[in-house]
Amino acid sequence: YQPVRVAVAGAGVVGGGLLKRLLNDPRFEVVSVLVRDPAKPRDFACPAELFTAAQDDLLASKPHVVLEAMSEGQAGHDLIRAALDKGLDVVSANKQAISIDPAGLNDLAWGTGARLAYSAAVGGGSPMIETLRLARAAGPVAGFEAVLNGTVNFMLERLAEGDAFDDALSAARAAGFAEEDPSSDLEGLDSAAKVRLLAYEAFGEAPQDLPLEALSPDAPLGRRGVRQIGACHARGGKLEARVALESDLDPVFHDLKGERNALKVYGQDGRVWTCKGRGAGRWATAESVLADLSDIVRIRQGL
Ligand code: NAP
Ligand code: HSE
Repeated sequence: YQPVRVAVAGAGVVGGGLLKRLLNDPRFEVVSVLVRDPAKPRDFACPAELFTAAQDDLLASKPHVVLEAMSEGQAGHDLIRAALDKGLDVVSANKQAISIDPAGLNDLAWGTGARLAYSAAVGGGSPMIETLRLARAAGPVAGFEAVLNGTVNFMLERLAEGDAFDDALSAARAAGFAEEDPSSDLEGLDSAAKVRLLAYEAFGEAPQDLPLEALSPDAPLGRRGVRQIGACHARGGKLEARVALESDLDPVFHDLKGERNALKVYGQDGRVWTCKGRGAGRWATAESVLADLSDIVRIRQGL
C-alpha cells in the first residue's frame, strides 16, 4: 500500500503525541500541520515546511485523513465541516468542536461518504463512545452516569489529601490533563460537552441546557469520595442532564484514581454496561485517535 496521507490540526499535548508517532511510521505520510503559531518551539522534531496557520493550506495538502486536535471549539468545528465537505475522513479529539452540532457533522459525513470518528473526545483513552453504541445496539437506553473530566477527578483526589487548590490545578496542567483554558474543566463545560456527545449516541439528540456545578475552592472538597458526575436520563419524554459534584456515588465511581474516567449505562430492559479508563493525557488520548485512524485505514484499504 502507498502511505496514507495524514494532516494534523493542533500540535500541543495531543497533536504533538500524534506527530511523534506518525512522523516515525512509514505507513503514514504527514502532509500538513495546522497550528496558530508555526514558529513556536515544539517538543518533537518535524520539518518546518509542514507547519501552516491557514486552514486552506491544510485542506490543499491533499490528505486522505485529517486528525483534529485543536484547543478551540469553533475553529475545530469549521475545519471538520470543511474537511467532511470535501469528502475527507476526519478523526477528532475535540469534544467542543463535535458537540456544537454532532447530528449535523454526522449527517454531513454520511452525505459525502466521509468517515467521522471521535472516540478520544469522550473518556480520553477509555472507549466510552463505543460502550454507548454497544448498549444502544442492544436496545433503548434509559440513561447514563459518568465521571468525564480527568482534571477535576485528579484535583478532587489531591484536595482530599490536603493539597492547596492552586497546587492541584498546576499539577493537572503540568501532567497535560487540563484544557488550554482550564476554566472549561473547572466550570463543568468540558464535561457538559461530553454529556452532549454521549446523549447524542444514546438518544440521537444532545441536551441544550445542562445545570453545571463548578469546582472552586469553596466547593465541598474536604471530604473523600466527592466526584464530578455528568449524567443524562430520558424521563417522561424529556432528557434530564446535569454536571454536578456529588458524594452519594455508585460503586463504579468509588476509588477512581487520578485522571481516570468511568461510565455506567442503563438499558431500559435493566441491563447495565460499564467502562473505566484513562480519561486524559497525551498518550491515552493520542492512542485513541490512532485507533480510530487505524479503523479508517482498514476500511479505506478494504480490509
Ligand atoms: P493544547 O496542548 O493546548 O494544544 C492545542 C493546539 O491547538 C495547539 O497546537 C494550538 O496551536 C492549536 N490551535 C488552537 N487553536 C487553533 C486555531 N484556531 N488554528 C490553528 N491551530 C490552533 O491542547 P491539547 O491538550 O492537545 O488538546 C487538544 C484537543 O484535544 C482539545 O480539543 C482537547 O479538549 C482535546 N483532548 C485533550 C485531552 C488531553 O488530555 N489533553 C484528552 C482528550 C481530548 P499553537 O501550538 O500554535 O498555539
Ligand atoms: N481536560 C480534559 C480532562 C481532557 O481533564 O478530562 C480530556 O478530555
